[in-house]
Amino acid sequence: MRILLFTGKGGVGKTTVAAATAVRAASAGHRTLVMSTDPAHSLADSFDIPLTSQAQQISINLWAEQIDAQERLESNWRDIQDFVVSFLNWTGVDAVEAEELSVIPGLDEIFSLTDVKRHADSGRFDLLVVDCAPTAETLRLLSLPEAMNWYIERIFPVERRLVKTIRPLLTRLTSMPIADDRIFAAVERLHRNLDGVRQLLTNERMSSVRLVVNPEKMVIAEAKRTYTYLSLFGYRVDAVVVNRIIPEEVEDPYFGKWKDIQREHLETVRDSFQPVPILTARLFDREMVGIDLLAEMGAEVYGDQDATAILHRDEPMRIRKQGTSYVLSLRLPFTEKGELEVFRKADELFLRVGSYKRNLVLPHTLQRLEVKEASFVGDRLEIRFARDAGTPARAGSR
Ligand SMILES: Nc1ncnc2c1ncn2[C@@H]1O[C@H](COP(=O)(O)OP(=O)(O)O)[C@@H](O)[C@H]1O
Ligand SMILES: [Mg+2]
Repeated sequence: MRILLFTGKGGVGKTTVAAATAVRAASAGHRTLVMSTDPAHSLADSFDIPLTSQAQQISINLWAEQIDAQERLESNWRDIQDFVVSFLNWTGVDAVEAEELSVIPGLDEIFSLTDVKRHADSGRFDLLVVDCAPTAETLRLLSLPEAMNWYIERIFPVERRLVKTIRPLLTRLTSMPIADDRIFAAVERLHRNLDGVRQLLTNERMSSVRLVVNPEKMVIAEAKRTYTYLSLFGYRVDAVVVNRIIPEEVEDPYFGKWKDIQREHLETVRDSFQPVPILTARLFDREMVGIDLLAEMGAEVYGDQDATAILHRDEPMRIRKQGTSYVLSLRLPFTEKGELEVFRKADELFLRVGSYKRNLVLPHTLQRLEVKEASFVGDRLEIRFARDAGTPARAGSR
């Protein structure tokens, strides 16, 4: 089972490349489902077939689904939301306002991803191709399970215990709505779902991200940032697809300059992302809509390669032993030292790159050690952990 995520700036051709990949994989015999988390219904436009939120077969070995984010939000969030609304009402917020406040922006998109897990668990498909919303949203979306995890693991167990003991007292003293077991169950279900999604999407044997770009300066700059953040959260990029390259045979002088510019940018992409493989697709002479043209596009992008293969093995995080120390090495491409903040708190490592933050719960081996130094070696941040000289070895540990 494989999961391929396609992301990139709006308009670069994500949906088209994702659909083309799905068509190609299906014709190679893989039972393939292509799904879009982008609220714009472009997947249906790309196939030129109406789609719904149920996976529907559109060709041999090929299924497609346009995820209905609102519907997923309802089924995952309703119980919790009802509680939040009644709580807000109790504090004096009016009903309509409370309803509005209870919807966290971006939450609908994250629930779309729970469909990825549902389909992965079903065992019906060999390949899931996910056409993600444009970059910024995707990133927020991908980092959410981890952020959510962090809160839920810390806040909920405490809260739950507290509520169990004081609820009888509280209900006697106040009309304040108190979360009941149904709400806790809903939160726990949600947590399990999101955690499951994250585990799937960061699983190295299963999931790869493919970045789609055009040979244009701003698009490439954004793709580099995306790459950094994906690495920060442990997602693996196995290819960059450069789409809309003006073909050699175009000789119209009007495009001469464009061709030079594109050639230069293509070179930049190769230099910047190496050793990640670069795939290319020319600018076709028409919109690439419908299964036949998508098949042509797929052939162009992958040539003789298997579209479902892991095209590059990235290793965003690894730990190695060095004498008596351990080195935690994180791949953080295109990161300037000034943008990075690292600190340790109890059993966690706090990392920030630009506006993105990650709380990394340290593996057991590192938890009992101290951070000694952090430095960049190439595009990897290496953090050395060792036992504090003053701290005696704990009983039982060697
Ligand atoms: N290489 C290409 N040659 C010609 N048309 C393309 C190419 N790639 C994409 N298109 C067209 O560009 C439009 C936008 O592509 P789309 O895949 O929807 O972009 P995105 O999903 O990144 O917003 C579509 O009409 C698509 O058919
Ligand atoms: Mg799209």
